[in-house]
Amino acid sequence: MIKSIERSAHSANQRTRDVDNERQAILELVQKIENLIYFPEKIEKPARIPNIWEVFSKEIKRYIETDVCALFRVDDQSHAFELAHCSPDDLDEHCRREIDAQIECGMFAWIINRRQPALIPSLVFKKRKTLIMLPLTTQTQTLGLVMVVTGISEGAITHERLKLLAILAKQCALIMENTLLFAQLQKEHETLQNAQSRIIQAEKFAAFGRMTSGAFHEFLNPLNILSGHLQLMQMSELPPAKIREYAALMQTQTDRIASMVKSLQRFSSPRKSECQILQLHPLIMAALDNTRARFPDHRIRCDVVVAADCPPANVNREEFIRVLMHLFDNAYEAMPLDGTLRIRLEQDVIEDIRNAHKEMIACRINDSGRGIPAENLAKIFDPFYTTKEVGAGTGLNLSISYALIQSMGGTITAQSAEGCGATFTVYLPGAEASGENCCD
Ligand SMILES: Nc1ncnc2c1ncn2[C@@H]1O[C@H](COP(=O)(O)OP(=O)(O)O)[C@@H](O)[C@H]1O
Ligand SMILES: [Mg+2]
Repeated sequence: MIKSIERSAHSANQRTRDVDNERQAILELVQKIENLIYFPEKIEKPARIPNIWEVFSKEIKRYIETDVCALFRVDDQSHAFELAHCSPDDLDEHCRREIDAQIECGMFAWIINRRQPALIPSLVFKKRKTLIMLPLTTQTQTLGLVMVVTGISEGAITHERLKLLAILAKQCALIMENTLLFAQLQKEHETLQNAQSRIIQAEKFAAFGRMTSGAFHEFLNPLNILSGHLQLMQMSELPPAKIREYAALMQTQTDRIASMVKSLQRFSSPRKSECQILQLHPLIMAALDNTRARFPDHRIRCDVVVAADCPPANVNREEFIRVLMHLFDNAYEAMPLDGTLRIRLEQDVIEDIRNAHKEMIACRINDSGRGIPAENLAKIFDPFYTTKEVGAGTGLNLSISYALIQSMGGTITAQSAEGCGATFTVYLPGAEASGENCCD
């Protein structure tokens, strides 16, 4: 009886020990899995191959005692194996001979093709050593191979331990692949940026060329007139009436130069306009009256429509009227005999350069004039761009208008086709943009 109680107690103790051991083994496994999962977090960001290798080779030592741990990369073209990193840094004579022998007999290539880890007893070292071969491959890429030299005999390395090392190598290969892809992406992004800045630079030069050739014309004309009249005045005794006539003409030309220089200052020192919240309708009517008065012979039908719910805008009164006058003048000039000018004021949503949607107040000015050919449409906002006869236009009004509206936080767009009229839209920020109350 006592014997049987002793036996049951013994077997109960044994079961408890077994359960404890099993629990210990599970805890150790969980720890190993945790290490595997968190291994990528130990790599310094942004990751580089030497950092990855440093962490990976240290990590391998957690799973197995290592004499040597070496990373080989495969050359894309020659498919040759090249030693990329190793720990310790210097390989001894035996190790070098072992590597050469393994590469020569095709073992490295075989491991890579099979995409499976392998244990190989070393033939070169005096003491018994085992080589652990871990391929660094992903679904799409072969990144290389890791060779570990350990003093543990082949038979003592369990399948479980080899499996863990293979998982670690797989993780390492994925991180390497992502790092290489990221570096490639960065390089492509840089190339794209360089190409983009070259295009912008070329466009700047082209615009600068157009601008300077226009500017030369615009400045040379009044200067030629000035110098011609000065010569006339120096060469002959002129009656006082003629001198007054020439002086008035020269005054007009100097005024013209001064006005162009003033306009250009707008580009050299752009500033933010002083704005207030105003209803735009009265400003449109003021600008329209001004243009009508300057083109008394034109038979233009004007239609002004204001959307019922159109809110006020944040605007600089004088500058906005000036812009409208420039746009109305251009429209009138494009309809020399008769035509229709439609002006519509409404709220609209536009996309800014960051693709964000912005509510703006849109003033659309549409004429039924000659229109703008597609090849000229991109140039009309360039300073000094004009299709008028030499001396008839400065080619500055649209570029100045653009700069003025930009300094109010708005923009101007143009749509047109030859023979089909033109539509210029002035967008201005609404009252919410400034948070002020309407002053009208
Ligand atoms: N409504 C329009 N219809 C047709 N062409 C236009 C219109 N507005 C502007 N343009 C074109 O844009 C050019 C530049 O205009 P602008 O800057 O006002 O300078 P300018 O009137 O002195 O030529 C004009 O010469 C003309 O070719
Ligand atoms: Mg004009």
